[in-house]
Amino acid sequence: MTPGERGAAVMSYSVAIVGALLLQSVSSQNEPSISTSEHTTLPVEGDSYTLQCNLTSTFSLPQESYWMKNGEEIPETRTSNRNTEYKLTKPRGDDAGWYMCVYTFEMSPPANATIEIKSAPNIIGHKRSENKNEGQVAILYCKSVGYPHPAWTWRKFDNGVHREIDNTSGRFFINSRDNYTELNIMDLDIELDPGEYHCNATNMLGSSDEMILLRVRSNLAPLWPLLGVLAEIIILVVIIVVYEKRKKPEDLQDGDESPGPVKTNSTNNHKDKNLRQRNTN
Ligand SMILES: *[C@@H]1O[C@H](CO)[C@@H](O)[C@H](O)[C@H]1NC(C)=O
Ligand SMILES: *[C@@H]1O[C@H](CO)[C@@H](O)[C@H](O)[C@H]1NC(C)=O
Ligand SMILES: *[C@@H]1O[C@H](CO)[C@@H](O)[C@H](O)[C@H]1NC(C)=O
Ligand SMILES: *[C@@H]1O[C@H](CO)[C@@H](O)[C@H](O)[C@H]1NC(C)=O
Ligand SMILES: *[C@@H]1O[C@H](CO)[C@@H](O)[C@H](O)[C@H]1NC(C)=O
Repeated sequence: MTPGERGAAVMSYSVAIVGALLLQSVSSQNEPSISTSEHTTLPVEGDSYTLQCNLTSTFSLPQESYWMKNGEEIPETRTSNRNTEYKLTKPRGDDAGWYMCVYTFEMSPPANATIEIKSAPNIIGHKRSENKNEGQVAILYCKSVGYPHPAWTWRKFDNGVHREIDNTSGRFFINSRDNYTELNIMDLDIELDPGEYHCNATNMLGSSDEMILLRVRSNLAPLWPLLGVLAEIIILVVIIVVYEKRKKPEDLQDGDESPGPVKTNSTNNHKDKNLRQRNTN
């Protein structure tokens, strides 16, 4: 290679590198850029919070934009403006979630940007009490709002302390997904299972806890009124029979005695008996 040839080779090599860099920068500029309002945490100051997306640069012609919440399109948010807003009025726990603005283009794939609205969990629905018979299945559940979705735990309030659920019997099943948790207790035990159960939802911003009272009745419970009546009848019959048996011999004795006031007669009888007994002694 002559020095001239070497120079030409270096030249063409650097041209190739610069060309590749240019291509890369062109393709990254091809990505539309979107500026968004800040992530935030509820509660916010003031009555409302406005989510904003501005399409600041694009190579392709934008068609329209719309908003999504937790992966679902929010109806009636489609617009052809480059700047789009979604207003949360008096935002509460159920407004928390991840929001996304999506821009569609005539000649290129859609682009999007995400805004997170976080909040501590709040349990907004739960079973207050569950009444079941022994051997049946109890289903206790809690629902929450708040974002990120909480981690769920279940505890039982036993002798004044909250304890982890004792699953040695293998009858407890916990099924939690996102904003919902369910505790199933199979083959209810009338001795072990009744009591206060607590569901607890916790994320990095806080936690929330609710109580569910579980009552377990005996299988005989529906028969109790009947058994009560039966027991009463039996006791009555026993009393009558016993009374009749005790009364009959005395009646016979009384019949043997001469007529007169019964009371004095009977006390006289007793005195006579006592006298007779003493005499024999
Ligand atoms: C979007 O554009 C509007 C109007 O120019 C401006 O007031 C707003 O601050 C911008 N928002 C963001 C998040 O860039
Ligand atoms: C948002 O953009 C990412 C890539 O930038 C893409 O993978 C995702 O599917 C987009 N989501 C929606 C809902 O358009
Ligand atoms: C719980 O999440 C599901 C799916 O993410 C949603 O459809 C439902 O509305 C949420 N429920 C509450 C109470 O936030
Ligand atoms: C309880 O034990 C059963 C059987 O071993 C198991 O399948 C279940 O997942 C356990 N439940 C909990 C809450 O650990
Ligand atoms: C929920 O459980 C967490 C973790 O054990 C605990 O720190 C928190 O105090 C509990 N929340 C309530 C409201 O009891």
